[in-house]
Amino acid sequence: MRPIDLRSDTVTQPSPEMRAAMGSAEVGDDVLERDPTLARLEERVADLLGMEAALWVPSGCMGNLIGLMLHLLRGDRFLAPAQAHVLGSELGTGAWLAGGMPEALAWEGGPGRPTPAQVTRAAGSPGPYYTLRTTLLCLENTHNFAGGTVTSAAEHQALVAAAKAAGLAVHLDGARLWHAAAALGAPLAALTEGVDTVQVCLSKGLGAPMGSLLCGTKPALAEARRLRKMLGGGVRQGGVMGAAGLVALDYLPRIAEDHAKTRRLAEGLRGFGIPAPQPETNILLVPVPDARAAVGALEAAGVRTLPVGPAIRFIAHRDLAMADIEEALRRIEPLARHLGG
Ligand SMILES: Cc1ncc(COP(=O)(O)O)c(C=O)c1O
Repeated sequence: MRPIDLRSDTVTQPSPEMRAAMGSAEVGDDVLERDPTLARLEERVADLLGMEAALWVPSGCMGNLIGLMLHLLRGDRFLAPAQAHVLGSELGTGAWLAGGMPEALAWEGGPGRPTPAQVTRAAGSPGPYYTLRTTLLCLENTHNFAGGTVTSAAEHQALVAAAKAAGLAVHLDGARLWHAAAALGAPLAALTEGVDTVQVCLSKGLGAPMGSLLCGTKPALAEARRLRKMLGGGVRQGGVMGAAGLVALDYLPRIAEDHAKTRRLAEGLRGFGIPAPQPETNILLVPVPDARAAVGALEAAGVRTLPVGPAIRFIAHRDLAMADIEEALRRIEPLARHLGG
């Protein structure tokens, strides 16, 4: 039985056009000078996001880490919504390598979202030299572990305004910013307004085998380029990956199809009495009595998922058709009791 892989939108295979584009990419040495294909990708993404410049990095974790390193001095505190990827899923690099002291903000603005008032309160006001200093707000849109939840442009702007009024820089983890923009029907640039840096991933939902872009001002990115090299992320003929990224961007107009697949999955599960919430994007978190047992039972039935705390996570993506979602539902139905049905 062919497994239906709903573990993540990172499990996609590069498409034949993507592999062909990688094979014929025009390349140069991106450490010595600039690789022409990476340069094209960087310009295209900077334009899409309404940012001055972009820098390709191998992974989302590296893009976030460089963002944090740009903004933090050792011992500075940074704020992020509870369960943000930078807090719990990047192996403590925000503290270890960027020197920051993390502070999680509870979701008082809705799932995955703090309120502007919380940002103001947590930032505090500058004290004497011997007090802890807070210098950065790190946002995440969509918020992965809240279930792919979306921050609207208006909420985003209010959060950024609160951060700026308190003297904080803002970094946005936009690993799935594409999904937020598609869900809102908003331009990507409306969701980056006011940020100092933003990181977006080409390997989540868009089908690229690797690659993220860190965007910001030209001077910030000149420093980011140095940091990328220090962290071992300077690549030579990176255009092979850049070409994959350019093809990946062609999927942007179709992202909403993945949201529709996820909604169909949730609706089907609810039909079996399983308490699946209404997904906002391509991520569905279903709270279950025993997440590991549920994941095991689904795996044995040919449906691959991941445990996330007390829930199991389903993510739809471009390599699954609506027919695969229907087939997944057929496989899940006899197991509904494992999912609280
Ligand atoms: C919200 C978010 N940020 C950052 C990352 C890190 O990306 P990468 O796995 O490319 O390092 C992920 C990965 O899933 C993510 O979901």
